[in-house]
Amino acid sequence: MTKDAANPTCLADYEALAAQALNPKTWAYVQSGAADQHTFARNQQAFADIRLVPRHLCSMQGGHTALELFGTTFDYPILIAPVAYQRLAHPDGEQATVLAASAMRAGMVVSTLSSMPLEDLAQASSTPLWFQLYLQADKADSLALMRRTEAAGYGAIVVTIDAALNGCRNAEQRAGFTLPDAISAVNLNGQRIAAQAMSIAAGESLFQSQHAARFHGWDDIEWVIQQSRRPVLVKGIMSPHDARRAVQAGAAGLLVSNHGGRVLDTVPATIEVLPAIMDAAGNTPVLLDGGIRRGTDVLKALALGAKAVLLGRPIIHGLAVNGPSGVAHVLHILRTEFEMAMMLCGCKTLADIDRSVIWPPDASPRLTSKSSLDA
Ligand code: FNR
Ligand code: LAC
Repeated sequence: MTKDAANPTCLADYEALAAQALNPKTWAYVQSGAADQHTFARNQQAFADIRLVPRHLCSMQGGHTALELFGTTFDYPILIAPVAYQRLAHPDGEQATVLAASAMRAGMVVSTLSSMPLEDLAQASSTPLWFQLYLQADKADSLALMRRTEAAGYGAIVVTIDAALNGCRNAEQRAGFTLPDAISAVNLNGQRIAAQAMSIAAGESLFQSQHAARFHGWDDIEWVIQQSRRPVLVKGIMSPHDARRAVQAGAAGLLVSNHGGRVLDTVPATIEVLPAIMDAAGNTPVLLDGGIRRGTDVLKALALGAKAVLLGRPIIHGLAVNGPSGVAHVLHILRTEFEMAMMLCGCKTLADIDRSVIWPPDASPRLTSKSSLDA
């Protein structure tokens, strides 16, 4: 750990230290958003633009943040998002993250593109693990991954639908990022799936390229749901249409995500679309990721209907700066900040968190004397 790393106090401090700890190519892969990075920036900015309503003189005795998701109890509503190739950030890769997740009793989603064997991770874990599935070209390969993860004890499948293409990874292209020889998708027979921008031959159409074959259909998601012996969440929901379609397909949960702004630029922030997704989701639980950096962000996501949130890049920042201890510290910081935000907004349990903790977007706190907030 560098001297400066002695006292990181918040997730932004970890981000700044990780930028120094990782080589510029890896940093470009981990950190950047697609194209001009509008969505990447907006994910965070949209949280900052939501204003909270503090509420004082509320007893906090007996408060807690426990919740149940798909039959499993979690101590707090912050999970680790699936992130590929974690050995890029630390020699112990996903093993280090699992260790931290177990110590902090945080749920973790392991990527199809994990750089360590999914059975080993399950063995090392004492915390709930879910498996993130990228549908494979051959259904037999997808099924084999589902059966392996069921046998290893993974509690749910998170099928990601928003990354059939990687998008315009300009920052990675400029930096010249390629996956190092020693790191591969070991659970896919060591395939070295391009984590970087795709190349298209001069004069070739993307529609006629091999990449077009990577697009699946809703019938494939229905197939996953039918085959799976575990609850299936659909990750990458950003429109009411896809939310309704996923519910219709039988999804146990929806994950509002724009892949951290890494695929299609200029889509809205996840927190901006959450209300519309809630309307479309009915009773199906909704989770959210993208731009969560503060405990107040977690509170805002829950206030607008999310059951829980997931962290992507901040986990990798912690991992790069200080291995398992860094990841554990990132989780600890965010959990504490979240509890602080709850207490200062008068919320003793997750059930107390609702829209009354945020100012209505159209009501100016300066001009409004009488509003729905009087309630
Ligand atoms: C990701 N993400 C991702 N998602 C997924 O379903 N499978 C994967 O393998 C990966 N890999 C991956 C690698 C890296 C380096 C990043 C940064 C992200 C997306 C991830 O699960 C999540 O949606 C976002 O990272 C959430 O945004 P924040 O928390 O990074 O702002
Ligand atoms: C990424 C892929 C691996 O975002 O999901 O890099």
